[in-house]
Amino acid sequence: MSLDIVILAAGQGTRMRSALPKVLHPVAGRSMLGHVIHSARQLAPVGIHVVIGHGAEQVREAFRDEDIRFVVQAEQLGTGHAVAQAQNGLASATTLVLYGDVPLIRAETLRALLEKASENQLALLTVELPDPTGYGRIIRDGQGKVTAIVEHKDANEAQRAVREGNTGILALPTAQLAGWMARLSNNNVQGEYYLTDVIAMAVADGLEIVTHSASQAMEVQGANDRRQLAQLERFYQLREAERLMAEGVTLRDPARLDIRGDVIAGRDVILDINVVLEGRVVIEDNVQIGANVVIRDSVIKRGAIIKPFTHIEGAVVGEGADAGPFARLRPGTVLDEKAHVGNFVELKNAHMGPGAKAGHLSYLGDASIGARANIGAGTITCNYDGANKFRTVLGEDVFIGSNNALVAPVSVGNGATTAAGSTITADVPESQLGVARARQRNIEGWKRPEKKKP
Ligand code: UD1
Ligand code: MG
Repeated sequence: MSLDIVILAAGQGTRMRSALPKVLHPVAGRSMLGHVIHSARQLAPVGIHVVIGHGAEQVREAFRDEDIRFVVQAEQLGTGHAVAQAQNGLASATTLVLYGDVPLIRAETLRALLEKASENQLALLTVELPDPTGYGRIIRDGQGKVTAIVEHKDANEAQRAVREGNTGILALPTAQLAGWMARLSNNNVQGEYYLTDVIAMAVADGLEIVTHSASQAMEVQGANDRRQLAQLERFYQLREAERLMAEGVTLRDPARLDIRGDVIAGRDVILDINVVLEGRVVIEDNVQIGANVVIRDSVIKRGAIIKPFTHIEGAVVGEGADAGPFARLRPGTVLDEKAHVGNFVELKNAHMGPGAKAGHLSYLGDASIGARANIGAGTITCNYDGANKFRTVLGEDVFIGSNNALVAPVSVGNGATTAAGSTITADVPESQLGVARARQRNIEGWKRPEKKKP
């Protein structure tokens, strides 16, 4: 069944009190509209049509690189009017309508809805709510067949008692759309062209209205203000936490994990509290991640241990390696198996060979560090001359003494050693000792200065 998807995103979102268009507000690190588009894509539609209005240019810009047809609705005259703006570009058998501010809708739910849509069936996604105030109500006849949707503001007492609400998401036969759009009127309490009026029209035209009920109200919940945005965020986070636990991850507290991207985790992974995972993060089996760790776009290999307060971005941490507490691995860092990075060590575009160690207080940038090398505390690679960056290359089994400045470009050969406190500006050949510091003098009979008497 060919499919077009129309996403309504022209509304203002006044209650957000924001310069940012409502649909660009993020949930779990991705804009609400981005989530909806992500779910839409999974249905492989012929076209995705986004109706924009308020903040149209900002919205367009945010999805510049995506294959989306934007349709501008200059004035927001109602959901029916919004769909009518997109109508010309719809060529598929079925049109699915989504809302740009209902971000947690899953492709799975939409597939179930679409199964019920056909050329003579209109499929509605509904939701049972304890308090449906504000929602359009699903009106059924004596046989339980849907006959209409009545908006809350237009509903009478009996209609308001109905707890089955309209989520706004529906799938309809595209062939009927033009006819129905032409018949919409704004003769209602809000003076808007309601998309929901097509239900009664479809019934009159002999179509059957089939409903699918959303199992969780939060999945179809929209965000009108920041409070609702936060509720959606928490719901999303719990859903992700539950997914990870189901896949074999131990979470010390599922309420204190934040995932802002796509996380793949293996088995017997342990995540302590306040871990934030952003972008694409892969965590292999038996990894342990300590409290207050932030990891972005990185791979943590089997059995690695990340200790508390470590920040990792664009890095690969090898099998059985460990980092932290308080380590910072910046983009381009690769730790091979069993490498060790201790507290207050920063690496950038640096490769540490198997078993290499940098235990304390270092900056290692644009560096390649051989297997089993040991980097003394306080070692700094001087990789930048203010204009260009240069590499430091340390061989296998190198021992860099404490408090060294390695002025790149420079290399230290396999098995070589540098003395503590050295400023290494020239290459150190294999197995030799490089000493580059002033020789100590001891002055006999030296007296400390005494305070002058006034
Ligand atoms: C709509 C439904 C209601 C449903 C509720 C669920 C109608 C008439 N009513 O009501 O049955 O229970 O959603 O939340 O459809 N939009 C535009 N252009 C417009 C108007 C709206 O793009 O001219 C967009 C909004 O940005 C929003 C969505 O459509 O994303 C829904 O609009 P909103 O005003 O929130 O509709 P409701 O009155 O809540
Ligand atoms: Mg609404």
